[in-house]
Amino acid sequence: MANTKIVTFTGSKGGVGKTTILFNISSWLATNSKKILLIDADFQASLSSTFNVITNQHTLLDVFMGGEPTVRHVAENIDLIPASPNLDQVETLIQGKMFREYMLLNWMHKNEDLIYTYDYVFIDTHPEFSMLTKNMIAVSDAVIVPLEPSEYGFTQLKNQFELRMAEFREASIDPRTNTSDIDAQVFFVGSKARTTTTSSRLFREELLSIPNNIGVIKFSEIMPTSTFTKVAVTNMSADKLRSYKGYKDHLVDEFSKIQRVIDNLN
Ligand SMILES: Nc1ncnc2c1ncn2[C@@H]1O[C@H](COP(=O)(O)OP(=O)(O)O)[C@@H](O)[C@H]1O
Ligand SMILES: [Mg+2]
Repeated sequence: MANTKIVTFTGSKGGVGKTTILFNISSWLATNSKKILLIDADFQASLSSTFNVITNQHTLLDVFMGGEPTVRHVAENIDLIPASPNLDQVETLIQGKMFREYMLLNWMHKNEDLIYTYDYVFIDTHPEFSMLTKNMIAVSDAVIVPLEPSEYGFTQLKNQFELRMAEFREASIDPRTNTSDIDAQVFFVGSKARTTTTSSRLFREELLSIPNNIGVIKFSEIMPTSTFTKVAVTNMSADKLRSYKGYKDHLVDEFSKIQRVIDNLN
């Protein structure tokens, strides 16, 4: 069953909603009986702590140090390879190693029987194009970059990311076959979109016109509440959702669009 889709959430900058979207979409898919593996590649470990996993034992760091990470079962249909606060040491630890962009890929090859048991592998990152992030992109079928449409300069962030991806692809071309090992497709998702002012509406329209935009998630206070209370919006009670009318349906619509795009990747 090599149908597993691997998706990294990265790009642009911190605070755009990567972890929040990832937590919510994963929980929604898991409720729909999909099996998910989460990999936390952000040394801030926000995703790990959302699942109450705070540790520096057998984490993602082990993949880069010749150890073995432990895959933790954290929720129904959700497993996690956690980050540790010292994950930022990866950059110096693997400096000078050959093929250091492909260390996670290597680990995944060795563990493909496990990886193939999942429908989706979702990877959270710290927002820089580091060697660690490159390792995540190298295993991915898709990269999703959340962009905040209210943000001045989000098109620059988008262009910068595409440029970095192009460079990374170029640098990974195998001269024998003239093909790149990096085949992740890049998609953009609007995040924290407000529709209250003329400028925010204009930004939203601009975002919607980006060819690889696959969804726009509206701003709502229920999103911070979801990670804070560790309950995905789609799993909240009707009572909890009363003051956020329509938001759950909105999320399900956007998540369904994103899922369709991911499912259609080859
Ligand atoms: N759709 C949203 N509406 C309102 N706030 C949001 C939304 N998505 C994320 N946030 C909030 O924005 C902040 C940054 O989100 P986070 O997911 O941590 O970003 P990142 O992982 O990109 O650094 C958090 O306080 C989070 O609760
Ligand atoms: Mg984050």
